[in-house]
Amino acid sequence: MADINTAKQAIETAGFLNIDVDANIDLFAEIERLKKEKNAIVLAHYYQEPDIQDVADYIGDSLGLAQQAEKTNADIIVFAGVHFMAETAKILNPSKKVLLPDLKAGCSLSDSAPPELFKRFKDQHPDHLVITYINCSAGMKALSDIICTSSNAQTIIESLPKEQKIIFAPDKNLGAYLNKKTGRNMVLWNGACMVHEIFSVEKITKLKIRHPQAKVIAHPECEEPVLRLADYIGSTTGLLKYAQKSEAKEFIVVTETGILHQMQKSCPDKTFIPAPPNNSCACNDCPHMKLNTLEKLYLCMEYELPEIMMEESLRIAAKKPIDRMLEISKQYGL
Ligand code: 13P
Ligand code: SF4
Repeated sequence: MADINTAKQAIETAGFLNIDVDANIDLFAEIERLKKEKNAIVLAHYYQEPDIQDVADYIGDSLGLAQQAEKTNADIIVFAGVHFMAETAKILNPSKKVLLPDLKAGCSLSDSAPPELFKRFKDQHPDHLVITYINCSAGMKALSDIICTSSNAQTIIESLPKEQKIIFAPDKNLGAYLNKKTGRNMVLWNGACMVHEIFSVEKITKLKIRHPQAKVIAHPECEEPVLRLADYIGSTTGLLKYAQKSEAKEFIVVTETGILHQMQKSCPDKTFIPAPPNNSCACNDCPHMKLNTLEKLYLCMEYELPEIMMEESLRIAAKKPIDRMLEISKQYGL
C-alpha cells in the first residue's frame, strides 16, 4: 500500500488517488471483497459508466440515491456520482464515512449558482419561498426552503398554496418546464446543465423520420424546443420505467448516455438510440460523471479516500430543506 500522506497529497492536486493499480487484479472481485470487509455500500447514479453500475448495490436517480443514503446501515457510503450527490449523502447521514472516487466530479448546473450571488438574488425577493433543485452545493441548500429533484419537483410545487411566490433555482430549463406544468410563475435562476442543453432539435427530428415508431423520451433539464419533441418527459428513473412499461420497441433517449445501460439490460428486446448532440463530439456524456472509473472506485475503497467533509453548521442548515423534500415525498408516496 502506498504511503497515506503521499496519497492525500495526490488528492489535493488531482482530486483522486493517483496510484498505479496492478493490471492483473480483478477489480470487480476486489470491490466485492472491500464491500464485505468494510461494511461499505456502493451507490451509483445512472450516468456512471456501465462497469460501475454493475458493481453498485443501488443504482438510481437523485431522489432514490438520497433516500438510500439516508437509510443505509453501512459504515461507508461509496458514492459513484458527482460531488453534490455525495455531499447530500453526508448531510443526511453524517456518522457515515462518505467517499467519492474523484473529488473533481462536479456539476455545471451546481456551478452555475454560487451561494454568494444567489444570496443577493434571494434578498431581492424577500416574500418568495426558495425551491432548489438538488443539483447544487451545500451552501445553496442552506439558502433554500425546500430541495427537490426531477422526480418530485412538480409534487412539491403543487403541495404549496397557489398564491405562494416561489424562486426556483438553479435550472432555468427545469424551472420553465415546471412553470408550464403547474401553471405557476416561479422566478427562475439562470442556470443550466451543459449536457442537457447540447441536444439538437434538427437532428432529433431527422432521427425521428428514420425511426417513425420510436418514442422520444427526454429529461426535463433539456431546453423547451427539445422537450416539445418528447412523448414522455421524466427523471432518469421515470425514463427507465417508461421504457420498461411501454409497448414501443424503439426509443430516442434525450439525456446522458449512461442510462442506456440499464435500459438495454432490463429491456433486451428493445432498441435505445441516444439523441444526437448539436455537434460531432460525445457531449451527451457528462464529463463530470465520467471522471469516476472502476479503478478510482477501487482505490477510494481501499484507502478510504477521498472523503467528503463538511462543517457541522453548514450541514445542519443544508439538511433542513432536504428533510422537507423527503417528508413531502414520503407523504405523496414517492
Ligand atoms: P435525476 O437522476 O434526478 O433524473 O437527475 C439527472 C441529473 O442530471 C443528475 O445529475
Ligand atoms: Fe450536472 Fe448535468 Fe452532469 Fe447532471 S448531467 S451532473 S446536471 S452537468
